[in-house]
Amino acid sequence: MTSTKHEVEVSYDVSNEFFRLWLDERMHYTCAVYERDNETLEQAQVNKSRVLYEYAEMNPDKLVLDIGCGWGANLEYLSVARETKRAHGITLSSAQFDELNARKIPGVEVFLTDYRDYAPKEKYDALVSIEMIDHLCSPAQANQGLAVEIYREYFKKCASWVKPGSCFGFQAILRNRVPRVRQDIADLKFTADVIFPGGLNPRLEELIQAVNPYWEVVELKTRRVDYGKTTAEWLRRMRLQETAIRAKWGDQVFDDYDRYLSTCVRGFANHWSSDVQMKLRHIDV
Ligand SMILES: C[S@@+](CC[C@H](N)C(=O)[O-])C[C@H]1O[C@@H](n2cnc3c(N)ncnc32)[C@H](O)[C@@H]1O
Repeated sequence: MTSTKHEVEVSYDVSNEFFRLWLDERMHYTCAVYERDNETLEQAQVNKSRVLYEYAEMNPDKLVLDIGCGWGANLEYLSVARETKRAHGITLSSAQFDELNARKIPGVEVFLTDYRDYAPKEKYDALVSIEMIDHLCSPAQANQGLAVEIYREYFKKCASWVKPGSCFGFQAILRNRVPRVRQDIADLKFTADVIFPGGLNPRLEELIQAVNPYWEVVELKTRRVDYGKTTAEWLRRMRLQETAIRAKWGDQVFDDYDRYLSTCVRGFANHWSSDVQMKLRHIDV
């Protein structure tokens, strides 16, 4: 099993208002790209979308799909900042689907579906997916040695949705070193079990194995330090809202998110986790 709809909703349906308090204004819930000193989270999130736009070789006339589109931050970038005429998104979260429909972004259509059930009516010119693959393989499946097979199924399906020569701006959280201290292991397990049930961050080598034979890796950039900065900024902003969060959603929500985000900050600093952006090109032959 991948994360089920229920498990995805545990991760994303706490409340749109809750996430709005500490994410950037567009609600990107993924690693930003810091290109200069003193950049804001907002600017760094735009940089992230721009990198993936370029990796996907987008232009305003291309039809693009954002797989696991969250609350629509990247779709909004495509539509508003880049004047993309038509962009589609899929998500498994009802709260995200509702938020996206409420935003009424010009040219954007969103579908509430598991990617495995998605059957687009037309082929795409480009794909983007930002940290959605992290939901596809459970820890139990990884223990059974199924990770590469599961990720390969995903890349195969994505390949079936595009026209020849299409590019894919892909981003994923990675798992790397295993911590040695018992409390750190417990904190990582808490994050996986309580905040992101059913999911597991892939290893970079698993992704490299899985993209073949459908996609060529054209460019690859790791973003570990960027994710450390992103999660530190989320944590800082969330702590500024501590009183409001405790009053509205209870102590458990604040304490759980504080523990999870603190673990992320330490995880990126200590190489337990990283992040990758890849430019993939469909293999047509
Ligand atoms: C970490 S969020 C990232 C959201 C967004 N890409 C962003 O940058 O903010 C992961 C997204 O993947 C979606 N997702 C997870 N599993 C999915 C599946 N099997 N099919 C479709 N979407 C899925 C979730 O609903 C969520 O929107």
